[in-house]
Amino acid sequence: MRHFITTDDLTNNEIINIFSDAEKFLKGEERGNELSKKSVMTLFFENSTRTRSSFEMALKRLGSRVINLDISKSSASKGETLLDTALNLKSIGADALIVRHSDAGVTYKLAQHLNSKSSVINAGDGSFAHPTQAMLDLFTIMKYFPDPQGKKIAIVGDIKNSRVANSNIKLLPRFGINITLVAPPHFLPKTDLKISHSLKKVIDEVDIIMSLRTQTERHNQQVYASLKDYARDFCITEELIGQKDIILMHPGPVNRNIDISDGLMNDPRSKVLEQVENGVAVRMAILKYLLAGKK
Ligand code: NCD
Repeated sequence: MRHFITTDDLTNNEIINIFSDAEKFLKGEERGNELSKKSVMTLFFENSTRTRSSFEMALKRLGSRVINLDISKSSASKGETLLDTALNLKSIGADALIVRHSDAGVTYKLAQHLNSKSSVINAGDGSFAHPTQAMLDLFTIMKYFPDPQGKKIAIVGDIKNSRVANSNIKLLPRFGINITLVAPPHFLPKTDLKISHSLKKVIDEVDIIMSLRTQTERHNQQVYASLKDYARDFCITEELIGQKDIILMHPGPVNRNIDISDGLMNDPRSKVLEQVENGVAVRMAILKYLLAGKK
């Protein structure tokens, strides 16, 4: 059974093939029905707007039955372990479990235990990984830079606590993209990548900016005086990027005027909603690849 826990689970060739399928889904050239005999359950132990509805839309477009487990009404609130919940859902007949959880590594452990029948797909675990988001980010980048080799991206913000950043840091260099991490010192992980504490210093060098939300829910203590102070140095604004020919990305949810200014959200260089649109097509292609044809 094929699981999808980190982007390392797919080779570059597999990713390219998935992207060419996603492109067909995006253009509406292919309306899949490949998962018509499948039943997939989503288990979101953390809040989600985009990822959950994007997976649901992707599954429905592929003809799958979808059950969204309402965690607040599930037996998790009665003390059942996540593993026991998952084993029960497998017995009910889930071909795949799409899981989001606040603990890093949870989806990996589940995948080991559910090895035989149900695929586990990581929809974001703690600050560890969010592989489908990194895939849709790379897909979006390649729409503007079909050969991304040598392109430069600044990943800006709370990188240390961001699973989106972590997955992109692993995936993008495999396609030749050079990363600079831009953040205050307390938001930087230990890394061999190029780092900067100043957006202004890197802005002239980059082709792509990926802004991130400050993950306050993962901070044990307040690490800066206020989000306003943070925004003064790290918000992406019209003033900062001027007329530069760049693309601006963000995985959402965007904190306006902290991550990205209001004005830039409406700028054609902002690809935030395009990322969301691409996300459905990329997830369709991933789900088809992992699940179609499997008993
Ligand atoms: C992110 C997440 O939940 O990891 N959002 C998303 O899935 N598109 C980023 C975030 O919460 O800041």
